[in-house]
Amino acid sequence: MQGTREEFSSRLGFLLAATGSAVGLGNVWGFPTNTASNGGAAFVAVYFLLAFGLAYPALMAELVIGRHTRANIYSALQQITPPGIGQRLAGLTGLYAILVASAVLMFYTLVAGWVIAHLLAAAFAIAGLTGPAQWFSVGSLMRDIFCAGIFSLLTIVVVSQGVHRGIERWSTRLLPALLVLSLALTAYVLFQPGAMAGLALYLVPDFSRILEPQLLVSAMGQAFFSLSLGVGTMLIYGSYLRQDENLPTIGALVTVVDALVAFLAGLLILPAMFVAQDLGISIYSGEDLIAGPDLIFQVLPTLFSSMGLAGIVVALAFFTLLAIAALTSSISMLEVPVALAVEKTPVSRSGACWLIGGVIFLGTVLLTVKFEALFGLVVTMTTEYSQPLLGIALCLFAGWVLNRNQLLKEIRSGYPDAENSLFWKIWPFYVRFVCPSLIAATFIQSVIL
Ligand code: PFF
Repeated sequence: MQGTREEFSSRLGFLLAATGSAVGLGNVWGFPTNTASNGGAAFVAVYFLLAFGLAYPALMAELVIGRHTRANIYSALQQITPPGIGQRLAGLTGLYAILVASAVLMFYTLVAGWVIAHLLAAAFAIAGLTGPAQWFSVGSLMRDIFCAGIFSLLTIVVVSQGVHRGIERWSTRLLPALLVLSLALTAYVLFQPGAMAGLALYLVPDFSRILEPQLLVSAMGQAFFSLSLGVGTMLIYGSYLRQDENLPTIGALVTVVDALVAFLAGLLILPAMFVAQDLGISIYSGEDLIAGPDLIFQVLPTLFSSMGLAGIVVALAFFTLLAIAALTSSISMLEVPVALAVEKTPVSRSGACWLIGGVIFLGTVLLTVKFEALFGLVVTMTTEYSQPLLGIALCLFAGWVLNRNQLLKEIRSGYPDAENSLFWKIWPFYVRFVCPSLIAATFIQSVIL
């Protein structure tokens, strides 16, 4: 198994794949939405602080464990833990992470299905086919399941092609397209009437809100979700990383690009809302800005359709952007259970993809049918509770189960001078004590609230 294990072919390949995992609906939808409902720029400031101060060290924990063990999260945690009850706990933690990754993929596929629906609606409108355009733009159970099915198929096909030919190749193609599209759209929106009011809300902080507990909790959840932490995604990507790569630098690059894309998405979405307002579209529900699914799937489509032909083209570009962002993330989620199956059973990669991808899609169908009862619950259980808790666990595994020598050896590989670096002076202590306590404190506060 070890000899044939796939690797990313280059640093750029890994960077694009890991950044592709990080940059997703969380950046283009979650970040602007959270910003809108948490007082604008105050949220942005706290988010950046947490992304670099808390999420980056946790990301490093996953990358180090992944490359050290070269295995899926279940086997990896067991491998580093001495036999006994600790090892059982390690295995259970790994399995729990894999379940959470699968559950995230279930609701992610549902939302990505909406994206596909709006994308197809715009494409049919451009082609002059008003019937199908209408069908895809109006929500229905059939439409949602059909479009989630298309997205699911895309995810399965990419992952079944393997790490190098599937995940790396597609991320390398799609991520640059995503960057170009988001820059072009942002530039377009910023020149529309009304955009400046949105920009002001986004960039001028209301410092009185900065210590609100809800803001802190949302910012932490957003940072963990955005960097795909806790569920073994970054761990498995780290396990495909070459031995001569510099982990701290690579992790920092992923964090920076992820934060930049979130920031860029905010520059696009918040001004777009105020452009919509300028056109007479209501963007407030009560006192607050409209957030959640309505922002992306109600306010923005109304804005696009009030902009005439240009609006249809902008809609097509915008939903293509979202679809690309979603796909480069969903493939990283499916890789988590697939890696376990491929490494632990005789099943082939493509068999595992179809089987696991199929079961997850059934979960998506259930979520679609029982939307009111299940959707919010699954999102909260996975992203707000499980991801931070698993984040704590992974920091503890890296900080306490692996010893300093093992950590240093792993980081030195690809970074020979690591011992004298600022990173090495801070991170081992940080990941042992600071990260777990800070995450726990924020988490406990969110449960008490
Ligand atoms: N980071 C992705 C986003 O921001 O949309 C979401 C995500 C991907 C979460 C992969 C978890 C995961 F394993």
